[in-house]
Amino acid sequence: MSDAFVKLSGLTLGYGRTVAVPALDLSIREGELIALLGPSGCGKTTTMRAIAGLLDPSDGTIEIDGRDVTRVPANKRGIGLVFQSYALFPHLSAHENVAFGLRLQKLPAEEIRARTEEGLATVGLTGFGKRKPAEMSGGQQQRVALARSLVMRPKVLLLDEPLSNLDARLRLEMRTELQRVQKETGITMVFVTHDQAEALALADRIVLMREGRIEQLGTPADLYARPETAFAAEFMGFENIFRTEGAAVVSDKGRLPLAAVPQSPILAWRPDAVTVGEGPHEGRVAAASFAGAHREYVIDSALGPVKADAAIELPEVPLGGTIRFDLPLATARGLAA
Ligand SMILES: Nc1ncnc2c1ncn2[C@@H]1O[C@H](COP(=O)(O)OP(=O)(O)O)[C@@H](O)[C@H]1O
Ligand SMILES: [Mg+2]
Repeated sequence: MSDAFVKLSGLTLGYGRTVAVPALDLSIREGELIALLGPSGCGKTTTMRAIAGLLDPSDGTIEIDGRDVTRVPANKRGIGLVFQSYALFPHLSAHENVAFGLRLQKLPAEEIRARTEEGLATVGLTGFGKRKPAEMSGGQQQRVALARSLVMRPKVLLLDEPLSNLDARLRLEMRTELQRVQKETGITMVFVTHDQAEALALADRIVLMREGRIEQLGTPADLYARPETAFAAEFMGFENIFRTEGAAVVSDKGRLPLAAVPQSPILAWRPDAVTVGEGPHEGRVAAASFAGAHREYVIDSALGPVKADAAIELPEVPLGGTIRFDLPLATARGLAA
């Protein structure tokens, strides 16, 4: 049962005649934080809107906690929503914003007060109850939006790019905060992002989407280390992806020999998996940038550009200079065609 707290079966979603998501199957466990990750337009928001009940599927079913909710209206599904824009009432205080949904439910005043205080405390905003949205930072406003959803005790909380309006530092802070809140409350969360680092940092499992379909599903460690396709590898930071032909890697620019015939039709290397400063190949430094612990080179090679990270201890090779490198089979990730 808990293996499919939220279960999407053959879910088909579209706008008019356009199919945005064809026959999606996905099971989300109770208490899990799952990230829908993928490029803009791949169907993340569309999927969220369907789970929330804001978009009718043209086919398939949605079950939540063992109940088929496909035809159940949005406000009866026990779903909470947090969006990129906080959509707080500007004339209401933080406390009043958080209490709003509870008031609609006509709960006793004391319970509303207690749950609102608890909600504000959960998101670290004790003492901020009297502030209006305009008197709070973006991060604080997003916390209010989160508390407003949490106090309703949803079965599932849907978060659609909730951190993308925040600046880089706040985004990191809110990432940790969200993870803490999720662990503390145990609420099942579906988190949408196009930022792979955010998905890797936050999620229990990642659903990598491409054109409305699941490209790969796994833990962050799985996806990071073992992408199965070139699309997944590229998304996970494998910047060097080449086809193989016998004992060589090839591109439309040319080819480079490998030490042996590889098993896979495609090989991928992260920049830090490329050997720099030694090796059988030679190229020209097309770009070099200092990145603290390492130096990032773009090497113009027989294959075209190869991205390689070099240890900072290695002597710097100037722009246009000759640099030796290797694409070792041992550090390559083999991919399906
Ligand atoms: N209201 C709409 N009307 C028509 N097409 C839409 C609408 N919303 C989204 N789409 C299309 O559906 C596809 C998926 O969009 P969306 O779910 O918003 O992607 P994501 O959230 O992953 O960026 C895209 O091709 C998009 O253009
Ligand atoms: Mg979207």
